[in-house]
Amino acid sequence: QETRGDHGFCEIRFQDVNSRFSSPSKILIKGGTVVNAHHKEVADVYIEDGVIVSVRPNIKVDCDVTVLDASGKYVMPGGIDPHTHLAMEFMGTETVDDFFSGQAAALAGGTTMHIDFVIPVNGSLSAGFDSYAKKTRNSVMDYGFHMAITKWDEAVSKEMELMVKEKGINSFKFFMAYKGSLMISDELLLQGLEKCKSLGALAMVHAENGDAVAEGQRKMIDLGITGPEGHALSRPPLLEGEATARAIRLAKFVNTPLYVVHVMSIDAMEEIANAKKSGQRVIGEPVVSGLILDDSWLWDPDFTTAAKYVMSPPIRKAGHDKALQAALSSGVLQLVGTDHCTFNSTQKAFGIDDFRKIPNGVNGIEERMHLIWDLMVETGRISVTDYVRITSTECARIFNIYPRKGAILAGSDADIIVLNPNSTFEISAASHHSRSDTNVYDGRKGKGKVEITISQGRVVWQDGVLRAERGSGRYIEMPPFGYLFDGLGKTDENYLSSLRAPVRRAKSSV
Ligand code: URP
Ligand code: ZN
Ligand code: ZN
Ligand code: ZN
Repeated sequence: QETRGDHGFCEIRFQDVNSRFSSPSKILIKGGTVVNAHHKEVADVYIEDGVIVSVRPNIKVDCDVTVLDASGKYVMPGGIDPHTHLAMEFMGTETVDDFFSGQAAALAGGTTMHIDFVIPVNGSLSAGFDSYAKKTRNSVMDYGFHMAITKWDEAVSKEMELMVKEKGINSFKFFMAYKGSLMISDELLLQGLEKCKSLGALAMVHAENGDAVAEGQRKMIDLGITGPEGHALSRPPLLEGEATARAIRLAKFVNTPLYVVHVMSIDAMEEIANAKKSGQRVIGEPVVSGLILDDSWLWDPDFTTAAKYVMSPPIRKAGHDKALQAALSSGVLQLVGTDHCTFNSTQKAFGIDDFRKIPNGVNGIEERMHLIWDLMVETGRISVTDYVRITSTECARIFNIYPRKGAILAGSDADIIVLNPNSTFEISAASHHSRSDTNVYDGRKGKGKVEITISQGRVVWQDGVLRAERGSGRYIEMPPFGYLFDGLGKTDENYLSSLRAPVRRAKSSV
């Protein structure tokens, strides 16, 4: 049992226990509505040793099985957050949530897996991978890795191959912003896209024009605008739209799939919609902050309040949120992440005199499942099955770990939540599990409550009590050539030319 201090848990009791001995290995979830992305039905779910054994009505079990009553509730795959930054060194500091506190928060909010971004060390992917392997030692749930590419040479190209073939990484992120630190050139992006394609790895982009952002920032400072509002003013939606369009066209030129992370604006969303309309394989990921918040917070006269909303691309004016919600309901955008990247108010205060020094990032890993349920399902914008698709299944499919993850099927991992649609949730910085002293959703209430979280077949969250075993998290390897690559070769220019070639020969021989 912990008291406030080392991890800041206070309201909620937290037991740092070896749950192998305290949590049963055989569980029956009885009488709930089992929801998968493809189907829902009233059924029981029987779990043994971390795996789902059976899903059907009226399962009979022995008395050594723990029975959880789920009647009137939804039994769904645990959330998978495709976009987090735990223990990330960024903008001269490190996020307050690491692989222990961030994952503890995730479990309390119904998320049972996340995919984090490994940042290379001096451009070295192997050194980055080793450093992240150390960071995850105290992890309490399953996780996977994307990897950022920050420079280009023969060694990086070879290491990408090693990461895919031996380290279980099947996606690489290219930052088109953060000039002077993570930003890459178009030339590097092109080479990276070619390499990704040859490896069957998914290319991901942070799409903002980093050169123009630097220019916009300089203009704001020249005008004497140094507060958090300068963050939004210096990098308008236009620059997100431009970079999204550029990345989409380069991916089309190379003929490889593209994943656009944190789509924050109508401008970027419309580029994705147009590319999809033309048949291009582009995935757009909105994040909770972009779907729910608007930029008015950045004008709050209290610096601490305003600074907590600083992230990139910026949270946009009201209207962008509604458009992103609609795009998510209609399938233009396909899954929801958080970009959980937490800095406390002391760290945010590094930028008290200059918005360019405010560490970028907001929380969300604990709040995502509740907020998206309330925003999208409770309002009738999407079905319950689509909720499962956008919070879990689609992520598992894209990153090629379905149906081990993202489904309630016999043989799938027992990562499951029980959500009571008639109960309510309330978010507060005082009771959340993040180590941050602030929460961008502080005070929000809504309908639908994750009452139980089962991770690796163990009850880790129930009745407001979190039980997590340090070091129990497993690294989930993600194999290359996921579904986005299926049949892709058939649309390659070389392949098309080879089809046309005999026609030319036939003509010239006449
Ligand atoms: O502000 C943000 N998004 N911080 C995390 C790094 C990134 O760009 O994803
Ligand atoms: Zn502790
Ligand atoms: Zn980013
Ligand atoms: Zn991010």
